[in-house]
Amino acid sequence: IIGGTGVYNLVEGVRSIHATTDYGVADIDIATLNGIEIAFIARHGKQHAIAPHQINYRANIRALKDLGVDFIYATAAVGSCSERFRVGDVVILRDFLDFTKCRPTSFFEDPEPVRHVLMNEPYCRKLSNAFCDTARRNDLGVAGEAVYVCTEGPRFETAAEIRMFANLGGEVVGMTSVPEVVLAKELGICYASVGIVTNMCTGLSGDAEESHRINKVMEEKREAVLRCCVDVLRSPLDKTCCDVRDNLL
Ligand code: HPA
Repeated sequence: IIGGTGVYNLVEGVRSIHATTDYGVADIDIATLNGIEIAFIARHGKQHAIAPHQINYRANIRALKDLGVDFIYATAAVGSCSERFRVGDVVILRDFLDFTKCRPTSFFEDPEPVRHVLMNEPYCRKLSNAFCDTARRNDLGVAGEAVYVCTEGPRFETAAEIRMFANLGGEVVGMTSVPEVVLAKELGICYASVGIVTNMCTGLSGDAEESHRINKVMEEKREAVLRCCVDVLRSPLDKTCCDVRDNLL
């Protein structure tokens, strides 16, 4: 599980490790829950000290792969630029528009062979559906599937940018899902992301008075979202859908 803004811990009594990779170090907590080991990364660090553009996405994903992780649920605080989604909604990410500018976005650096990862289904369909089914059983409403716009941050967007994103089909906006989802795909890890709408985006009605609610909204939804993620991860899961050989050209 990769916890976004507002999600900094999985459970008490975890083992913490510094995992060294070719890309740098990742701080990972490992917990045994009902007989299975779950690795947890606080994406922004436990003190929320790592800004979106400074996160070492490659170290995090490489370290999880090295630990033998096959499935990742990520959480993300998002703003909504769509009438479909209001503050407090939980959404499952379906696709993305990438507006990041200067992040390493790939593990593929060697000159040959040139490889291209397919993006027809960036977020794992099975893992996404499993979250929605489990959420329904646990009375956690999922408002729908959303197209995520990833900005570079750390600044928020201008009102003109938000109008543009909405015109392009973007529905929620955040600063972290890219390249995380892409890197997971490159390594053949099933990856799904759950967005929690913490505010309406800049320039949309309600933004000013709602922006200070980010922490409050996260607190309200965090436990329920994590519980659903853990519930799914404890069940038998098939990862053949995200086999790396089927996703590379
Ligand atoms: N924009 C970008 N990232 C965000 C937002 C937003 O409005 N809300 C939460 N993360």
